[in-house]
Amino acid sequence: MKTQTQYLLRNLVIIMALCLLFITCTSEKQLEELVQTPGEETIVEEPVQPEEVAAPLPGLPADVAGYTQWLKLNAEPIPPAGGGDPHNGTKNVYVNQARETIAPDGEQQFPYPNGSIVIKEASRPGKDFIGLIAIMRKKEGVDPDHNDWEFIEYVRSASDAEFREIARDGVCWGCHARVEDIDYVFTELE
Ligand code: HEC
Repeated sequence: MKTQTQYLLRNLVIIMALCLLFITCTSEKQLEELVQTPGEETIVEEPVQPEEVAAPLPGLPADVAGYTQWLKLNAEPIPPAGGGDPHNGTKNVYVNQARETIAPDGEQQFPYPNGSIVIKEASRPGKDFIGLIAIMRKKEGVDPDHNDWEFIEYVRSASDAEFREIARDGVCWGCHARVEDIDYVFTELE
C-alpha cells in the first residue's frame, strides 16, 4: 500500500514537473516572439531613403540635375553618325516626362507638353566621359516659329572640366526642322 502511494506521488511530481517545464517553455517562446516582433517591424518600417538626385554636372543648369533618372527615349545607345554628325559620339536621349504622359496608349503623341526638357548626352568617340550635352526646352511663347523649343548645347573636353555653352537656337533649327512633324525631336520613344 505504502509503495503504491509513493509510486503515485512520484508520478504526480513528475507530471507537475513536466507541466511546469511546458509552461516555462511556452511562455519563454511567447516572450521571444514578443521581443522579436517589434524588432522585425522596426526593420520593415525603416524609412525608405528618397532616391538622391545627383548634382548637375559642372557648368550645367540646375533643371537638368539627375537627368539620367528620367525616361530614356532610345532603347540602345545611339552610335556616332560619322563625319557630319553635329553631336558626334555615343548618345542617349532623356525626357523629363513619364511614358504614360507622352505615349498614353503605348504610342507616342506629339507635340511634347509645355515644360518638357529633352536632353542628349554624348561621350565622344574614344572617350569615357560625357563631353556633350544638348538640351531642348519647351517654354510656352519662347519661339512660336519652332514649336516653342529653346535649343542649347554645351561641351567640355575633360571629365573634370566645366561644361560651357557652344551654340544655341539658329544653328540648330536647320537640321531639327527636318523632323518638324514629330515636334523637332529626332529620337522617338522606343
Ligand atoms: C547637322 C544636323 C543637326 C544640327 C545642326 C543640330 N542637330 Fe541636334 N540632332 C540631330 C540629329 C540627327 C539628332 C538625332 C540623334 C543623333 O543621331 O544624334 C539630334 C538630336 C538632338 C537632341 C536629342 C533629341 C532629338 O532630337 O533626338 C537634342 C536635344 C539636340 N539634338 C539638340 C541640338 C541643339 C541644341 C543644336 C544646336 C546647338 C542641335 N541639336 C543642332 C541633328 C542636328
